[in-house]
Amino acid sequence: MLKIGHRGAKGYVAENTLASFAKAIELKVDAVELDVHLSSDGEIMVIHDATVNRTTTETGFVSDFSASELKKLGIPTLEQVLLFLNRRCVINIEIKEATATPKVLQLIEKWVTEQHWKYNQFQISSFNWEALSMVSKINSKIAIGVLAEASIEKALAFAIQIKAHSINPYFKLLNSENVNLIHSNGFKIYTWTVNTPEDLIFVKSLIVDGIISDFPDRI
Ligand code: G3P
Ligand code: CA
Repeated sequence: MLKIGHRGAKGYVAENTLASFAKAIELKVDAVELDVHLSSDGEIMVIHDATVNRTTTETGFVSDFSASELKKLGIPTLEQVLLFLNRRCVINIEIKEATATPKVLQLIEKWVTEQHWKYNQFQISSFNWEALSMVSKINSKIAIGVLAEASIEKALAFAIQIKAHSINPYFKLLNSENVNLIHSNGFKIYTWTVNTPEDLIFVKSLIVDGIISDFPDRI
């Protein structure tokens, strides 16, 4: 079962920062999950929200700042994170807006052909089905995770349609019946965001394939 650090190791260090990914590596994760948006000059930036308000000292939309301005606020580019990780774990890139998808695909292609990363070291996940359809059409070698926050059934039907690798559901949606259904359709289950000991015992009892946690050492 994969141990996946949510936004790095969000429970210990500020989310989606290089320090948070360093902490996740220290905690021996199999993978890190992170979120991406585009800067005004088209760089892929690692940040969860569409604005910088919650996680930096500035206010405004990520898409209104240049990459160099965002870097000064402590927000790394996806390339900086890849360089830092240096193939020490798998990376689950959650695309927050479909417009970032072509750039993310180009970047993965570049890192596979020029930097010795393997396709199986990347996963792309999203709640945005337009983004995931694009990934499936453009590069079938990249593992796709269909994020589900409300309906496992709808996510499963879509995963079959786009030949996804996994369903990544909110853990409270899971039960033994739908876990069996997902597995019998050939998909892995990477569930989020599981933090408390009781919730970890619950999802582990269902035999999922990976757990995404702010505290990856608890998994
Ligand atoms: O990838 C799972 C999880 O990160 C999705 O929710 O809001 O934390 O990005 P959120
Ligand atoms: Ca996320």
